[in-house]
Amino acid sequence: MLERFHIRFQMARPAPRVLTALVLVLTLIGVAASAGARAPHRRFPEIELTTHEGKRVRFYEDLIQDKVVSINFIFTRCSDSCPAETAKLKEVYERLGDRVGRDIFMYSISIDPEHDTPEALKKFADKFQTGPGWLFLRAEEEDVKRLEERFGLDLDADEYDDPEDHNISLVMGNERTGQWIKRSPFDNPGALASILGYRLSDGMVARSDVKSYSEVPEAPQLSEGAFLFRTRCESCHTLGGGEGLGPDLIGVTARRERNWLARWIREPDKMIEEGDPQALALYVQYRELAMPNLRLEQTEVDALLGFLMEQDRARGFVPVPARQARRD
Ligand code: HEC
Repeated sequence: MLERFHIRFQMARPAPRVLTALVLVLTLIGVAASAGARAPHRRFPEIELTTHEGKRVRFYEDLIQDKVVSINFIFTRCSDSCPAETAKLKEVYERLGDRVGRDIFMYSISIDPEHDTPEALKKFADKFQTGPGWLFLRAEEEDVKRLEERFGLDLDADEYDDPEDHNISLVMGNERTGQWIKRSPFDNPGALASILGYRLSDGMVARSDVKSYSEVPEAPQLSEGAFLFRTRCESCHTLGGGEGLGPDLIGVTARRERNWLARWIREPDKMIEEGDPQALALYVQYRELAMPNLRLEQTEVDALLGFLMEQDRARGFVPVPARQARRD
């Protein structure tokens, strides 16, 4: 209807200026209306975001259209769950190798845009040594809310430090096929990589040098300590396998006193806060990436220490016993 209107006006010659203006307005309305009706992405809010590299991007067109993506929400001042979550996703990122940035894209969107400037996000990304294909993003607060709602993940920053909330905070999808899957970022990284790399990537070429994403490591008959290490620590620490996000832990029971270790594993945040010299030195050495307080029970800490000592002894390290508490 608008179009017919438009044509009639255009044919009236010579068009008075006011009519030309009216035609322009009506045309714009017409274009907007028809674009709205046709838009395949009305299900996604078309918002603008800024990346940690300071680039402006549009959510639908630049970030998700025709792509396989993972989306999670973080904020850089979050001390515990976001670093643990990001370290886990880093494992997924590494498993997917060079496919990230090519046909798979990872987005971590801040729910605290007031503090999370592109610079703050860049610093966060650097701590985790992420690379191409994984963007840390900010948008206006109401836009972030719309996104969270769209994905059914609306969380308050306050709630975010409670690890329970993380059961739902990772969304993976393929915009082209319309498949969307929610998972916890704390799921097995192999399983998450397999969802992104296979299940959602039907028809896409797999990376050749990775044997199989479905080779999800099983955890048969692991001791409690080994199981805890694999699920809670391995995303940041290796055991004799070179550096991860944090120090390699082989030999750690030989270089640190037992009580120090036990307390560090239980509450690293407090030790840094109190200015423990060894803790501070490590913190500085590791790009100020604070090891998260993982809220472990004392029995879990003991199990982990037992496991670390066992690993060390097997490789010829002699664990330092607990120093006697001084009585003076
Ligand atoms: C998000 C990453 C992350 C996770 C998860 C993590 N750590 Fe750490 N860890 C670090 C970083 C980084 C350091 C270096 C100190 C710092 O920057 O806070 C560290 C330091 C340590 C140290 C001291 C090493 C040394 O050379 O003295 C020990 C021991 C340790 N972590 C044990 C653990 C254990 C056990 C777990 C699992 C229960 C764990 N960490 C989980 C990041 C992590």
